[in-house]
Amino acid sequence: MESKEKFAPPAEFAAQAHVPSFADYERLYAAALADPDKFWAERAGDLHWFQRWTQVCDWSNAPFAKWFVGGKTNLSYNCLDRHLPTARRNKAAIVWEGENYEQRTLTYQELYRKVCKFANALKGLGLKSGDRAIIYMPMVPEAAVAMLACARLGVTHSVVFGGFSAEALKTRIQDLEACLVITADAGLRRGKEVLLKPAVDESLADCPTVKNVIVYKRLGTLTQMKSGRDHWWDDLTTGISEECPAEPLDSEHPLYVLYTSGTTGKPKGVVHTTGGYLTYVLATMKWVFDLKEEDTYWCTADIGWVTGHSYVVYGPLAAGATTFMYEGAPDWPKWDRFWRLIEKYRISVFYTSPTAIRAFIRQGDDFPNGHDLSSLRLLGSVGEPINPTAWKWYHTTIGKERCPIVDTWWQTETGGILISPLPGATPTKPGSATRPLPGIVAEVVDDKGEPVKIGKGFLVLSRPWPSMLRTIYGNPERFKAGYWSRFPGKYFTGDAATIDEDGYIWCLGRVDDVINVAGHRLSTMEVESSLVRHKSVAEAAVVGAPHEMKGEAIYCFVALKTGVNGSDALVDELRDWVAHEIGALAKPEKINFVAALPKTRSGKIMRRLLREIVTTKSVAGDTSTLEDYGVILKLSQEGKEEEEILGEKK
Ligand code: WTA
Repeated sequence: MESKEKFAPPAEFAAQAHVPSFADYERLYAAALADPDKFWAERAGDLHWFQRWTQVCDWSNAPFAKWFVGGKTNLSYNCLDRHLPTARRNKAAIVWEGENYEQRTLTYQELYRKVCKFANALKGLGLKSGDRAIIYMPMVPEAAVAMLACARLGVTHSVVFGGFSAEALKTRIQDLEACLVITADAGLRRGKEVLLKPAVDESLADCPTVKNVIVYKRLGTLTQMKSGRDHWWDDLTTGISEECPAEPLDSEHPLYVLYTSGTTGKPKGVVHTTGGYLTYVLATMKWVFDLKEEDTYWCTADIGWVTGHSYVVYGPLAAGATTFMYEGAPDWPKWDRFWRLIEKYRISVFYTSPTAIRAFIRQGDDFPNGHDLSSLRLLGSVGEPINPTAWKWYHTTIGKERCPIVDTWWQTETGGILISPLPGATPTKPGSATRPLPGIVAEVVDDKGEPVKIGKGFLVLSRPWPSMLRTIYGNPERFKAGYWSRFPGKYFTGDAATIDEDGYIWCLGRVDDVINVAGHRLSTMEVESSLVRHKSVAEAAVVGAPHEMKGEAIYCFVALKTGVNGSDALVDELRDWVAHEIGALAKPEKINFVAALPKTRSGKIMRRLLREIVTTKSVAGDTSTLEDYGVILKLSQEGKEEEEILGEKK
């Protein structure tokens, strides 16, 4: 993985950057370390506060943090109203292209009016501060409108990725006890309609808390509406007031809950709050993306993921930027769609995932080379380790060796980017997210929690930061046990990392039972629980195996019930079953039928051994039998216990 090469920030870039040299970065870092309260208070000063805070950070009840205690603010106000008295009022806030080439542009003023109208519609349905709403939508501007309208009223939102199944949607609605679902008839993906409303209907059969459903008409697909419960977006917002004052909300008011995979079968609701979150996200927009008034910024993430929250909607809009949104797939109708969009909209800052980059490499250079990419000035990467080969291709073929690359390390839980180069300041090394941002104390520690000077260990964060998760929704114990118990007083990320002689951090991936498939987090237990719900399955074990394109792929070991025989047809059936239960992103790569699963004496499945086998490629290629199953048994008989699972205790 490691590459010795080092790339200095291009001189022209550094000359215009917010942070123009490494010495400037070090000064910022030292200032934040010496007096964090003063440092963060200055950053929070960039926002509008209805009432100023009395204390910057209250860590007395650690690990439950409070930031900007006593302060009152509103995210929607900061993303919209704050810009209206300035020249930004007629600047494009959102530029959107549908997969079918439809185009829309919303200025800050237009977006403000849409958000106010929708917020008034929510009020009309009786929604108020403290209620919870689910957003299950395609990538259309109305998804951002829905988020901003909820934030305006203090309604805590939870966006569920449109690719998740009805079952996954249901568990999230139930955990949150949401009273409203905001959805659309359908979205477009690879030229096909992806229906959303039927999945909502299916999930609501078991969700008595939901009183209302709002449906945005994206395609005009034939949609069944349940009278009294379902409302068309347009009907609710026609003829309604275009003014809706933003609620002054407590700085710690829960802004959103975003479900992510942990090490158990049940996804956890990561809670983010208001003042600290926005302060941090806005600061990182400037540091990492070096955002300027003229930029057209495109982050390709879906709003269903944290990247979509912080760096498609809230960060860019708080910064007064133009954020570009695209509805569909990168390969539709051809593999040049992204490059075509960059050329057409003159995108200047482009932020995507290593999985996408690897897929582009495979399609060949003719696609990017056929387009004018000269508008680009900065490139970003997120979600998984980027291998040096992919980094260099991105640097040369897309960035033409002109554009710095920011490899940004962070998590759903961290709310914003924590480790990343500053593009005008930090020399980059392909494959390393480099150094922590100002105010972030990231360390690599050994299994006793002692810092490793140079070498491998576990990535931890030793100080609270403004956008940190506050808890797991409805489960403070899981929050404490999952993140704060392994290394007392420190937040454990669940990642392994190397630190080198320059203090650069190289993230190596997860060390718990979370796998990262194409940049999407999945829990092995979630897939296992789904498999054992199938009538033919007795037991299942799931591990991540290295995959050339996706980073990691899902490998399943399945013991069938007595009398059931494994067949290729059953393999297909089980793969489809998991995709239907969780969502297409969880569709297993391989299913291996085994006679029994290797277990420790205490009965725990030895996933580590299975992981070893799939990593060393000793599992037979395309067949569904595990040829060297005997090896596993032998190893297990030698008494090797499965390693203590780091991170969450089960
Ligand atoms: C991994 C996505 C290496 C890491 C924002 C982390 C990365 C998990 C990087 C969080 C990166 C994210 N280099 N690995 N630049 N960024 N990861 O919650 O394992 O979907 O713990 O947040 O992705 O995934 P999540």
